[in-house]
Amino acid sequence: MIVGFIGSGNMAAAMARGWAASANGPTQMLFTDSGSGRATALADEVEGRAVDSNENLVEGADFVVLAMKPKDLADVAASIPSPFAVMSLLGGTALATLFEQFPDSTVIRLMPNLAVETGRGVIAAAHPQESDPKVIADGLALLESLGKVVELDDSLMDAATAVMGCSPAYFAVVADALAKAGIEDGLEPEDALTMVAETLSGTAELLKRRTPFEIQVAVASPGGSTEAGLEALAAGGAAEAFEQAAISSLRRMREG
Ligand SMILES: NC(=O)c1ccc[n+]([C@@H]2O[C@H](COP(=O)([O-])OP(=O)(O)OC[C@H]3O[C@@H](n4cnc5c(N)ncnc54)[C@H](OP(=O)(O)O)[C@@H]3O)[C@@H](O)[C@H]2O)c1
Repeated sequence: MIVGFIGSGNMAAAMARGWAASANGPTQMLFTDSGSGRATALADEVEGRAVDSNENLVEGADFVVLAMKPKDLADVAASIPSPFAVMSLLGGTALATLFEQFPDSTVIRLMPNLAVETGRGVIAAAHPQESDPKVIADGLALLESLGKVVELDDSLMDAATAVMGCSPAYFAVVADALAKAGIEDGLEPEDALTMVAETLSGTAELLKRRTPFEIQVAVASPGGSTEAGLEALAAGGAAEAFEQAAISSLRRMREG
């Protein structure tokens, strides 16, 4: 399976790195950019191939990944032949909008998060019921090598984006704050960040077995140090701040 990326920025790079490290990724990856040279750099890194135009990329690819910004959709669509199959990463861009541009293509709308680079990403995916089942199955199989695929109705993709597309950045804020606190108290920066990262990873596993409330209760014995920390988080409005982060990102997506 040959996958062509229109756009070679942050998310294209994360997906391409994840696929390059997977035994079940594409047989070849093609890349374009709008002139920055990022396509060549990424192609060199993942042993893919930079292509001189979007038109040539579409002609050589089984799946075309739209990995430019949503504002570039109309220009890109106008400049290429109708792709056979499209995976769109474009935030806040509904299937109906994609079909206006690519009426003859099989289209899967995706929302991956940056962790696809590690093969431990989350990929929300929406596609119309009437799509070619073989093409959809091939596309979803490719995506499964990048992490957990969650199939959703198109109407839920923005909500999914707010909780899983943006949230690696939010967890990074938490990791940075906790690591800094440890460093100020004498830990080596590398040790502090490793411990926070492994704690995040272990807590993610725990969340598959216990509810968030059960974890809080199990860690925070009455009158203990975790309880003091949770009280400080509550006083600082931490939970409300995270909720507000998701609401703000949804609002921004819907403003277009
Ligand atoms: N970053 C994330 O975590 C994330 C998460 C989920 C979804 N997304 C979605 O992924 C898409 C890309 O986001 P990003 O963060 O990767 O953006 P980015 O780093 O700004 O990359 C955009 C890429 O598109 C290229 N491009 C622009 N116009 C083009 C054209 N006409 N033909 C070919 N390439 C063109 C740019 O070329 P140059 O290199 O020449 O500028 C650049 O390589 C967005 O639609 C976003 O909604 C991103």
